[in-house]
Amino acid sequence: MRKIALLTSGGDAPGMNACIRAIVLTSLRYGLEVYGYRHGFNGLLEQEYLNLRAKNVANIIQRGGTILNSARCLTFKSDDAAKVAAKNLDILGIEALLVIGGDGSFRGAKHLANHWSGQVIGLPGTIDNDVDGTDATIGYYTAIETALDSIDKVRDTADAFERIFLIEVMGRHAGFIGLNAAIASAADHIMLPEISRSCDDELENILAHIEAVKKRRGNTSYIVVVTENLWPDGVTSLAQILTEKTQIECRPVILGYVQRGGSPVSQDRVLATKLGAFAVEAALEGKTGVMVGEINQEIVCTELENSWLQKKPLDPYLVKIQQDLFDILKRP
Ligand code: F6P
Repeated sequence: MRKIALLTSGGDAPGMNACIRAIVLTSLRYGLEVYGYRHGFNGLLEQEYLNLRAKNVANIIQRGGTILNSARCLTFKSDDAAKVAAKNLDILGIEALLVIGGDGSFRGAKHLANHWSGQVIGLPGTIDNDVDGTDATIGYYTAIETALDSIDKVRDTADAFERIFLIEVMGRHAGFIGLNAAIASAADHIMLPEISRSCDDELENILAHIEAVKKRRGNTSYIVVVTENLWPDGVTSLAQILTEKTQIECRPVILGYVQRGGSPVSQDRVLATKLGAFAVEAALEGKTGVMVGEINQEIVCTELENSWLQKKPLDPYLVKIQQDLFDILKRP
């Protein structure tokens, strides 16, 4: 193999730059030319690429975002787009393409693999951690830290005013960030897609809990961590309902895109470096159609489609602990 390429796609995640760096340096170590396509799959369609050298990846390991830019490329779903991309990769003489992203990006990678004779390998990069075949995705640990830092700060003002706060975290349809940030911040309640009930049941449950906690502790702050896309009209409408029903001021806080930014924590940098280096070696061994991930400290390859076919479960023990603590809080 002489030429390898990479791109970052979908929601950016802290640690993507660390991964780019590892891929570039490992490729150079093996004497490969390495190309970075810009703006995700759009770069393949537009032939927008850079020849990457060691100097391009100096001083980036600590930076959030992605030096290659990212995008969601809806047009890439068509066969024609995949054929254009395949042709462009062949024109440049690329033999393997590494795709850093989440499940949407891996669907794109698989689609390309159906139309291109080169090798395609995925690396899990998303704050949501909703990719099977790896214990953690690149960016996930940093997102938890960012959410946690914000929840701790909200707790200060919640305590001062004895208010209820609903804090919406990202995760798309997965509760990994929510569960971990809630446990680490000692949140009073969580609402996660994996353990959600009907809206009526959720409301009844939370009102009963607030009432019980108030009886036990008197007026107090009360923090609820809610995964985005869970409550039909969003946390702002839920906050209004809770204010009316409890007669306690309830405020919504949508953490939003801050969770995608910032300097990656060490776990994300190390994971990104490990997977980046391994992906290049896997490409040199001829692997294709797989995602590289880490399970129990071992690097594993998973067929690309298996990264999204099954919903990755939350740690059941963490869910149990959270629910036990939640019950204890309301005991008299
Ligand atoms: O997948 C990462 C993520 O940040 C999700 O948590 C969120 O739902 C989504 O991306 C937001 O996507 P966009 O950047 O397209 O608004």
